[in-house]
Amino acid sequence: MLIEANNLHKSFGDVRAVDGVSLHVAACEAYGLVGPDGAGKTTTMRLLVGAFACDEGEVRIAGHDIRTRPEDARSNLGYLPQRFSLYSDLTVQENLNFFGEVRGVTSAELAQRGAELLGFVGLKGFEQRLSGQLSGGMKQKLGLACALIHQPRVLLLDEPTGGVDPVTRQDFWQLIIRLLADGVAVIVCTPYMDEAVRCNRVGFLSQGRLLTQGSPRELTARLEGRVLELVAEPRVRARQLSLDDPDVEDAQTFGNRLHLRVRAAAGPLERLPGTLAAAGVQVTRLKPIAPNLEDVFIALLEEAEAAHV
Ligand SMILES: Nc1ncnc2c1ncn2[C@@H]1O[C@H](COP(=O)(O)OP(=O)(O)OP(=O)(O)O)[C@@H](O)[C@H]1O
Ligand SMILES: [Mg+2]
Repeated sequence: MLIEANNLHKSFGDVRAVDGVSLHVAACEAYGLVGPDGAGKTTTMRLLVGAFACDEGEVRIAGHDIRTRPEDARSNLGYLPQRFSLYSDLTVQENLNFFGEVRGVTSAELAQRGAELLGFVGLKGFEQRLSGQLSGGMKQKLGLACALIHQPRVLLLDEPTGGVDPVTRQDFWQLIIRLLADGVAVIVCTPYMDEAVRCNRVGFLSQGRLLTQGSPRELTARLEGRVLELVAEPRVRARQLSLDDPDVEDAQTFGNRLHLRVRAAAGPLERLPGTLAAAGVQVTRLKPIAPNLEDVFIALLEEAEAAHV
């Protein structure tokens, strides 16, 4: 395992930001850490890089304990923080050189590696541009290049595509896929389920606890047969009436569709067409569908909240 985190705890006063998190990530594996704002994703990353000491628990990066052998651990670690700051008055090339020097990369290596990396992230030709004048997506790509300058085997990305356009997000994922093929272990914090689904494994974090972890397929299998898609107008009325059905636990809007989470599908499939029609709601579609990760996450959050009260 390139990343081993066992039973991590970190509190800030009364806030248990990270509360017993364990995760293990192997070479060639992308682990998606998903969770709402304030769930503890960034704090987990900071514990993994050793920016904060854990109150409890241990972290090993490529076999090196982050507390007792921080140099060895960090030489294997690339980190793109959520609020990554480049020096905006330095050029692309100067930023890359600076991060390389901090990481102890020799000038000969730096010249070769720097050029390769700028090609890799698609910034070739922009070497002399001031970083402050790059677009948001280009800044993130330069951040990735800086995080990779010392050829780490472990890469931690904290919401790398936040505020980045869909095309650049797609580019960014192509880069991650190539790094995985080279044997890097990656953790990506993301609020986007379409990114989580690209990961080999996903962990759902809420209030500092991992509610569950598994491959996207394993996670969605748990709700198999329990999500119905409903397309009906007017939608707000359709939603209210659906929620009145004894077997409907939840109704979420996805574009012009509703996802109904049901205890069992048979009852609502039989009852809802009649109930909705009687109330003047026009139903275009009502059918079981494969659950997505968002359905699973919402169900888990509700279970966790119910367990707390
Ligand atoms: N340095 C700090 N001092 C005090 N409290 C903190 C500190 N860092 C984080 N917290 C608190 O710990 C909790 C977890 O925060 P964290 O930033 O890890 O969440 P997150 O999942 O990264 O959220 P976001 O999606 O908004 O980035 C929050 O309640 C936050 O207010
Ligand atoms: Mg964060």
